[in-house]
Parts: sequence; C-alpha cells; structure tokens
Amino acid sequence: MMEFSLINQTIQHFDGDSVVVFSNTDTNLNDAALRQLVELNQFESKAGKALSLNLVEGFKAKHVIVVGLGDTPTTDKNYIKALVAVSDALTTAKIKSTMIQQVEIEGCDQQWMQRTTARVMQNATYQIQKVGADQTDESPVESIAMQSDADNAHELAQGQAIANGMALTRHLGDLPSNVCTPTYLADTAQALATEFDLDCEILEESDMSALGMGSLLSVSKGSIEPPKLISLSYVGNGDANPIVLVGKGVTFDSGGISLKPGAGMDEMKYDMCGAASVLGTMRAVAEMKLKVNLTIVVPTVENMPAHNASKPGDVVTSMSGQTIEILNTDAEGRLILCDALTYVEKFNPAVVIDTATLTGAVIVALGKHHCGVMANDQDLADDLITAGKTALDTAWQLPLDDEYDELLKSNFADMGNIGGREAGTVTAACFLARYAKNYRWAHLDIAGTAWVSGAKKGATGRPVPLLTQYILDQV
Ligand code: BES
Ligand code: MN
Ligand code: ZN
Repeated sequence: MMEFSLINQTIQHFDGDSVVVFSNTDTNLNDAALRQLVELNQFESKAGKALSLNLVEGFKAKHVIVVGLGDTPTTDKNYIKALVAVSDALTTAKIKSTMIQQVEIEGCDQQWMQRTTARVMQNATYQIQKVGADQTDESPVESIAMQSDADNAHELAQGQAIANGMALTRHLGDLPSNVCTPTYLADTAQALATEFDLDCEILEESDMSALGMGSLLSVSKGSIEPPKLISLSYVGNGDANPIVLVGKGVTFDSGGISLKPGAGMDEMKYDMCGAASVLGTMRAVAEMKLKVNLTIVVPTVENMPAHNASKPGDVVTSMSGQTIEILNTDAEGRLILCDALTYVEKFNPAVVIDTATLTGAVIVALGKHHCGVMANDQDLADDLITAGKTALDTAWQLPLDDEYDELLKSNFADMGNIGGREAGTVTAACFLARYAKNYRWAHLDIAGTAWVSGAKKGATGRPVPLLTQYILDQV
C-alpha cells in the first residue's frame, strides 16, 4: 500500500531515495547543476517525458527524475501526463520513496493538486490480477511525499480512496465473464457492505418476477446465469434524499439471438463496467465517509442466445407497465435499465444518474475521450460536465429532443427497443427517459471510455473520478 504525505522542505534536502523535479519547455530550471545536466542530455521538457539522473551534485536523494510539463502555464492535462511518466520512471528504477516538487497549475488549488496527485499516482500502479495466479507483483513505490506548505493531508486520503474505487472498477471489468457473473457482482456488493457497514439487498429472479420486471427478465432468460438486482446504500447525511446511481451490469453481451459478429467479442465482458463504476464509486464514498446519502442499484444479467432466449419481435411488459417490442435482442442494456429506473423510485431519489456501456454509436460520435451525457434536467447535466472537467474524466452533452423519441415508435407495443440507424446514442437515452420521468435524471454512455482496446487492453476505472467529484461537489 502506497503512503502519501505532505512535506515542507526544499527538494535538494530530501533524503529519501529520489526526488521528482518538474521542468517547463520555456523556463530554465532553478538548480544550476540540474540545468546543466538537462541541457547536456538535450531534454526537451515535453509533457510526459522523463529524464532519470543519478547522484546529482547538491541533492541528498540518489535519484533525480526530471519530468516535462510542456509550456507554461502548466495545464491540468499536462500535469497528469507528467505524473504517469513519474510512475513509470519510479517503477522501472524500482524506487521505494520519492518527493514530488510543488508546481503551479493553471486554475487549480492545493486541494486539487493533493487529491489528483494521490489518485493518479496510486491508479498508475494498478495491475491486472491474472486468473490462477495468487498474487500480483506489488508496485515497488512505498511512499510519496508531496512538497507543500499546507498542514492538512485530508485530500491525499480522498485521492487514495478514489483510486481504490477505480481499482475495484478496473478489476471487475478486467475479470473474464466466466468468473465475473451476476452472482459474482452480488457477492462483491455483499462484501463491500460488510467491509463498510452498508445496507445491501439482492433481489433474485423470483423477486423481480413478483415486481413485474418483464423487460429485465426477458434478457436474462436465455442464460444459465441467474439475474440479480443489487441495491447498496450508504447513509452519511441522516434522512436526506439519496443520490442514486444505476449501473448496467451485463456480464457478457453476446447480442443474444441478434448475435454480434465474432471479431472482438471478448470485449463484451466489459459490458458490466457501468455496474463496476457505481460499485467503485460507492467504495470511494464509503472510504471517504462523505456527509451524503448514496444508493447504488445494479441490474445484472448475461445476454446469451438460446432456445429460450428472447427473439426479435417479442413483446414484453416492463415494471412501469409500458410494453416493449424487442426488435433487436442486442439492445439489451436499455431493457434491464428501464426496470431498474422504475425500481429506484422507491428510494425517493434527489437525483438518479445511470452509467452504461450502452451504444457503439457513442464511440463513433465522441471517440474514447469524452463519455456522452444526456439528461432531463440541464442543471444536473451542467454539474456532471463541471465535475468531469475538475476530475479530468470528461463528459460531452448530446441532445434529447422529442423528434428523436419519435423514432422509437412500434406498431405492436408502446415502443420498440431500437430507433434505427441514426443517432443511436440519443435514441437509446430517449428510451431510458421514458422510465425516468418522476425525478431529475442523467445518463452517462461510457461505451467509449470504460476500457481501452489494443495492446493495453483493459478497464480504465472511468467514470469513477467524474461521479466521485460530482458527489464531493454536493457535500
Ligand atoms: N453493449 C453494447 C454497446 C457497445 C458496443 C459497447 C460496442 C461497447 C462497444 C450494447 O448492448 C449494444 O449492443 N448496443 C447496440 C445497439 C443497437 C442494437 C441499437 C449497438 O450499439 O450496436
Ligand atoms: Mn448489446
Ligand atoms: Zn450491451
């Protein structure tokens, strides 16, 4: 476990293993010896570039890591890039302790610096836990001292709590679907409840059937894995109405009878990243002991083709009473979320925010940088966008006009579950909006941001930073 602290000392005098010195492209380093070495090595101070130097004259620490920040004024994005480079340099050189120099970042205060530095440094040490291996290699980095004249390390603990939440989210996302089943997610929630003294309720198939959740159950019925509806509540603010987070928990999305093409289908184990992100956010909030009430709700199922699976054209009745023609069994996320959105009314929510790997179309629209946000309340959308900017886990708003909603028309039911080729992310949200009429609601489509593909394939832990920042902003 990494330890963070604040230290009011010059970098030259720090007597741990290493110090991190930041350098901008357009200003010279103050320290003469260091300046000379940096010039000699033709180091350019681009953001995210690092130069490791040993036994530098005038420094007590054996290693000095010079890290580029790009142009001044330093932006928050470049600072994060630099921190990731610091983490790589420390890991490569197997360095146990370090001190990080204080820098000015445009528009950011000390609290932001502390929280963000702790979060990014700890998150950078995340390692995938391989199935069958008992232990992953521990990160060599044991302690990080941040140069600061503040005397309160509260924000460092918050940053760590957020990173711990992200680690849970990433871990659940990275697990294969034969391990991370709906039952596994329910067990994980129960374990969190025990660890942090939360209220936990798990609804089984029969309970959901009694509540009339015909839409959710139409997705799970083709799988041998039993569905679960998980609720976890944290009470930190008396009897105030809770913030309710709902996370899509499809532990594997084959598409069902509307089967997906084979290429890259392994990545559909990540279709529970919405669920993982609300569990991770709950972990962070409970660890921070925030003065808020938070409830998370996770509808979780596996979407499989089978003789008893839903077929295109089937009509089901949701818990709300509205009927749905399932025109495509691969548009399953909205079918489980709609019943969860009706169910959460019982919590009298202050707001409801759902997060879901809902549409491939959001990747076409926004790529992998911003998640999509859609809402029935502009203030809520604005608050989420602001929180995303602060946490560097950004969201971009898409519209929700009635014209889009009309695309959901069906001849055989109150609505179809798809809206055709156009604006797929928006029509998916319009579908959800029909079940979220009784409260302030926002939807985050995280299909582009929850994981990365390619050589570094893995879950990112997003949008835990955005959601925790939103909650911090409400306290
Ligand atoms: N889980 C997928 C969305 C998805 C696709 C996430 C690709 C990440 C990468 C979702 O259940 C789905 O299949 N959506 C369909 C909707 C369509 C049938 C209207 C899609 O996006 O193709
Ligand atoms: Mn699907
Ligand atoms: Zn899906």
